[in-house]
Amino acid sequence: MPIQSFEGKIAFITGGASGIGLGISKVLVERGAQVVLADLRQDHIDHALAEFAGGGRSNAVSALQLDVTNREQYREAAKKMLDEFGGIDILVNNAGVGLEGPLLEATYADYDFGFGVNVGGVINGFTEFLPQMVAHGRGGHIVSTASLAAEVVMPPQMAIYAASKAAVCHFCESAKGELAQHDIGVSILLPGPVKSNIHETIDNRPAHLREGSGFTASEKKLARRIVGDNWMEPVDVGHLVADGILNNTTYLVTHGMYKDAMRARAQAVLDATPDRMEVVDSFGNYRDEE
Ligand SMILES: NC(=O)c1ccc[n+]([C@@H]2O[C@H](COP(=O)([O-])OP(=O)(O)OC[C@H]3O[C@@H](n4cnc5c(N)ncnc54)[C@H](O)[C@@H]3O)[C@@H](O)[C@H]2O)c1
Repeated sequence: MPIQSFEGKIAFITGGASGIGLGISKVLVERGAQVVLADLRQDHIDHALAEFAGGGRSNAVSALQLDVTNREQYREAAKKMLDEFGGIDILVNNAGVGLEGPLLEATYADYDFGFGVNVGGVINGFTEFLPQMVAHGRGGHIVSTASLAAEVVMPPQMAIYAASKAAVCHFCESAKGELAQHDIGVSILLPGPVKSNIHETIDNRPAHLREGSGFTASEKKLARRIVGDNWMEPVDVGHLVADGILNNTTYLVTHGMYKDAMRARAQAVLDATPDRMEVVDSFGNYRDEE
């Protein structure tokens, strides 16, 4: 069954201890789910659990430390969810890093870091949790956090980030049709500016990808960025996500401010597309329509 209520549902939220992930966690807890915050940073976990501690449903929240790029650790986490909860109903692939810097200075360490967390983390989530979500037969839902950066042509220095988020978006769009037969819904979260700690990306870089990075100066600059007062509150994103899960909405978009840029990009692709129609024969070969 697709998710119809959060009562008694088990949700696993990566990057769940800060920013958008914490906002989603708070709303799912408030609406009756049992939530596990899976996060790289113990300081974020401690801070998040302390926030829940005063509330009425604090026993509906637990946490585990997880680096979503570590497949062994991820497998253990999925097994723990199966052993302790009989498997999860909702997966939120939300952990991400805010990579930016000049392409000419980018090294493989920067590509591996950006794509490793933003794309690899999502793929690892699908790979580790799908089998148990299908096997328990209760259906469920998978939300993955991309970005509006996937839908517009981004300004310079954002190529790795934009590409990683576009990969998440297209992966999930395609997965949705395939998972429907197992009653597993799929949503893609496309946020604009939301209050969070994403400027701390430099602290989330593992030592082996810090070495040789060409983005150190850019990440130090990002670390000084001030979170805007008018950026969206994470809890508001949480409500959008919760409603999206119940309605199995494909695209969950937080802001309308980039609509013209989104339209311009889509229109440019359409404008470049020839009107001639090709058809595919039963062997998968393209041929011109007679
Ligand atoms: N805040 C925004 O304006 C914005 C806009 C568009 C997209 N996003 C996306 O939203 C998601 C959440 O980011 P946020 O803005 O809330 O930032 P955040 O830094 O506040 O939260 C991200 C959390 O992910 C955790 N994390 C980082 N690397 C991890 C890893 N390897 N394994 C497990 N956890 C890890 C961090 O410790 C942190 O707690 C990201 O995917 C980000 O790209 C954010």
